Amino acid sequence: MQDTRTISQLIADHVPGMPLEQRFYTDPDIYRLELERIITRNWIMAGHVSQIPNPGDFFVFELANESAIVVRGSEGKVKAFANVCRHRGSLVCLEQSGSTRKFECPYHGWMYDIDGNLTAARAMPKDFDKKSHGLFPVSVDVLGGLIFVCFSDNPPSLEGAKRDLAEPFAMFGFDNLKVAAKKVYPIEANWKLAVENYQECYHCATAHPDYARMHTLMLDRMKRERVQGHMLERMEACGLKNIEYDFVDTHARPGEQGYGYSRTAMFEGYKTGSRDGEPVAPLLGNLKDYDGGASDFTFGPCSFLLAYSDHVVGYVFKPVDLENCVCEIYWLVRGDAVEGKDYDVDELTWLWHVTTLADKEIIVNNWKGVRSRYYRPGPFSTMERMERRFIDWVLQQLADDDRKLPLTGTG
Ligand code: FES
Ligand SMILES: [Fe+2]
Repeated sequence: MQDTRTISQLIADHVPGMPLEQRFYTDPDIYRLELERIITRNWIMAGHVSQIPNPGDFFVFELANESAIVVRGSEGKVKAFANVCRHRGSLVCLEQSGSTRKFECPYHGWMYDIDGNLTAARAMPKDFDKKSHGLFPVSVDVLGGLIFVCFSDNPPSLEGAKRDLAEPFAMFGFDNLKVAAKKVYPIEANWKLAVENYQECYHCATAHPDYARMHTLMLDRMKRERVQGHMLERMEACGLKNIEYDFVDTHARPGEQGYGYSRTAMFEGYKTGSRDGEPVAPLLGNLKDYDGGASDFTFGPCSFLLAYSDHVVGYVFKPVDLENCVCEIYWLVRGDAVEGKDYDVDELTWLWHVTTLADKEIIVNNWKGVRSRYYRPGPFSTMERMERRFIDWVLQQLADDDRKLPLTGTG
């Protein structure tokens, strides 16, 4: 039977403390609303300043239906523009990254400089005003060397994140990192299942034997607090402060982008997230030694970072369409570290490569089951509280809907 409930009814029917109903994962109208209310309204990590050190260096950042050119402008500032020609709308830049003095639209050859100005357009009427046909700017900001974009002209404030995360960023020398490796993992599943998976470690003990022998997040809260001791004792001598912020999802301040920071001990004997727990790159920033911890950063719904003492791993989850998403992973090391001498890419990327391949598999299995007629949300465990919070936040964003869309439904 056709499910004709509106989005308001669907949200009203949501049982607190339970996962989402099937329609939230399979309905194209809900996905469209998510793009409008969540994906393009929040900041998302697009890269690191070290990828575009000089004027004219650029990369393209794609997110669902949107594409932005992120470029170092002529005066050295990081800028972002919609990758959409002001003539008839073609994508302007087809290369994924590079260095250039101008962007030439492949359709009719309109030319834009690296500050987004239209500089040449053939055979246009005399009164055509080039000045008012520059590429549309996309909101962009830099925090701790990380480049964030938002496809909204009225993005959430980053004030709190900038203020509170300045110190954690400084501890690890985020401004001076470089991208040692980047991998893209396509996942055949609705994007929320991938984000939900990242937010809980209930699955870690079963799905990630390598991760679980070093990270303590798969322990319940009480046990984890007991193992924090050895890290807390060492932190100060290693050059780290015990800082914690939780303004994630429903805990975000009104009008602000949600964010969080905390550090969790690894099991004794592990200095970093590597095959044998031994360092895989030089110590970050001004750190003096290994405290045996790993720091979690959260920015908005889709961007996460894990800072070990010698490298940082960045995770970005991006919807492609209703039924597909990608996980982009960045491995960042000190800017002056030399590949082959100070780090080996295979060793550096090993843990999160194998962990992400396993995650991809369980997320796709989850997606297959969620689409079944037999799927019913089952209760969360006590180890899935962040996932539960994420779901509550998603529902809040969707409820901010005064149009009462009649949904298509999936039967
Ligand atoms: S669409 Fe770009 S020049 Fe025509
Ligand atoms: Fe996982």
